[in-house]
Amino acid sequence: MGALNIFSLVLLAAAFIAQNNGAINRFIPMWCVDLHATPVGSTYDSTKDVMQACVEAPACIGFKKISESEYLRLYLLTGYTFNETSRDYYLWDKTAGKTFQNQPNELDALILFAIYINGECPAPFFVDGSLCRGRSDISREFCYSYPTYMAPQHDGTYCFVLQKQTVINSWA
Ligand SMILES: *[C@@H]1O[C@H](CO)[C@@H](O)[C@H](O)[C@H]1NC(C)=O
Repeated sequence: MGALNIFSLVLLAAAFIAQNNGAINRFIPMWCVDLHATPVGSTYDSTKDVMQACVEAPACIGFKKISESEYLRLYLLTGYTFNETSRDYYLWDKTAGKTFQNQPNELDALILFAIYINGECPAPFFVDGSLCRGRSDISREFCYSYPTYMAPQHDGTYCFVLQKQTVINSWA
């Protein structure tokens, strides 16, 4: 299956909706995509319960189906790969409908806003000058697992990546 067909599949799949304090939260079924993220915490037995737990948890990016009726919250998104048989991942749409003319492909706005879930830097990073600096426990391997458009650089001690707005400016 070509990449364009896969994007169409992902974006046509009906979103799942969770409400929190009157806000509508959309979770996008990632058909044919594996999210690179860390499953954390309790197991939930319905999509409704795992979505509710996700929208109430800081830095949750979505959830993963691990069996017919078991779901886990996901954290620390670093990217994705295509997988034609995968139907296991659901991504919380934090874009508020934004897309960018020169984003690498249709999925990348969704992915970017989920990686930068807390603001200008990914969850385990802090603003450092015009970049984001990772906590010292971020390994070289984890650092370079971020998309190349974030320009990850590990200097032997710290991982640095571009800030969210810098990436968005490069897609304008
Ligand atoms: C693709 O998805 C299937 C079904 O979820 C999974 O069993 C398989 O390990 C995945 N392939 C890769 C390369 O991760």
